[in-house]
Amino acid sequence: MMANKEQLISQVQAEFKKQFKTEPKILNLTPGRINIIGEHTDYNEGLAMPAAINRWICGAVCKSPDKSFTIYSLNYNEKVVITPQGPEKFNTVWKQLAATAIDHITIEFDIDTGINMVLGGNIPIGCGLSSSSALVISITQTFCRLFSIQMEDRQLARFCQKIENKALGTAGGLLDQYGIILSKKDQFMVIDFQDDSIEYIPAILNDSTWIVVNSQVSRELSESAYLQRVKECIEGLKILKKESGISSFRDIDQPMLELLKEKFDVLYKRLCHVIDENQRVLDLKNQLQKGAAEKAGAILKESHKSLRYLYEVSCEEIDYMIEMSEGVGGWHGGRIIGGGFGGCCIHLLADGAVEDFTHHITESYRKKFEITPEIM
Ligand code: GLA
Repeated sequence: MMANKEQLISQVQAEFKKQFKTEPKILNLTPGRINIIGEHTDYNEGLAMPAAINRWICGAVCKSPDKSFTIYSLNYNEKVVITPQGPEKFNTVWKQLAATAIDHITIEFDIDTGINMVLGGNIPIGCGLSSSSALVISITQTFCRLFSIQMEDRQLARFCQKIENKALGTAGGLLDQYGIILSKKDQFMVIDFQDDSIEYIPAILNDSTWIVVNSQVSRELSESAYLQRVKECIEGLKILKKESGISSFRDIDQPMLELLKEKFDVLYKRLCHVIDENQRVLDLKNQLQKGAAEKAGAILKESHKSLRYLYEVSCEEIDYMIEMSEGVGGWHGGRIIGGGFGGCCIHLLADGAVEDFTHHITESYRKKFEITPEIM
């Protein structure tokens, strides 16, 4: 059974005492995030609709008597000691993220006092709920509180984005960091990454429930495929800038896309997804504000189709889950979330359909793939 918030905090506190024989000075909670719609749009000056979730990474910290940075992970039951002498490369993702974060923080804020830290979380790891971003943000926030460093929210988001991209060698946008840092309770954020504006809309939809399902498919190779998508979008924009004299993604319209179609079929598909997905964010916002759950669900289905066939970031298991969901009365729609290639999908259901959905999806998925999905 997954720890709830209180259990998580006391587990981290107890582990801290065990590891370092003292009480932590600071306890900090950083949530994961979901994304309702707007996938692979953040790094293309587009729109997205994330929200933080009630799953967290808890960080406990105090200063250490020496100059080393010791971090113990409760999830991995492993410790890493980071010193200015290196090493630079670690064999696990969490250690690489932690070391890169420490490196950036100590240089940026001129810190030469060591720390002892314990991290523990109940965000499922590596499945599209931003556990990696939450880890980096957790370390940074915990540090900032311990050393009384003031950082404005957006500055913190950009700083943590830089750390994560450096550590993983990828080129992620700001969706995860904004969703985690700038979220408000019971609200979805409508972010425009072109002008950096955020509108908050009520997350509660009468008689409906949002469900996240973890397919348990690991997102192997997702970093390199992600980077390839980023490059394809840059390439597509470059061609259109030259052909049509536009200056940004948001100037692209359908007739311009036709210019790409013949010679650059892949780039055409990628950009079609981005342009349509931006529009879907606005349409979904509209339907949610009207309380139109069925229409909202139809938009989610369109988004999934686009991620599957145009952006090509879905996977067989999640496609199957979406197809199977069609057979559940009261299922309004669903789609893969996050970077893709596995991980989680999000579904919108009528309240009364949740039990049926849970049963149907668990059984059919188990039968087909011999995997038990996690329903949240
Ligand atoms: C990952 C990245 C985000 C965003 C999503 C796709 O989560 O970290 O910046 O691009 O994929 O929407």
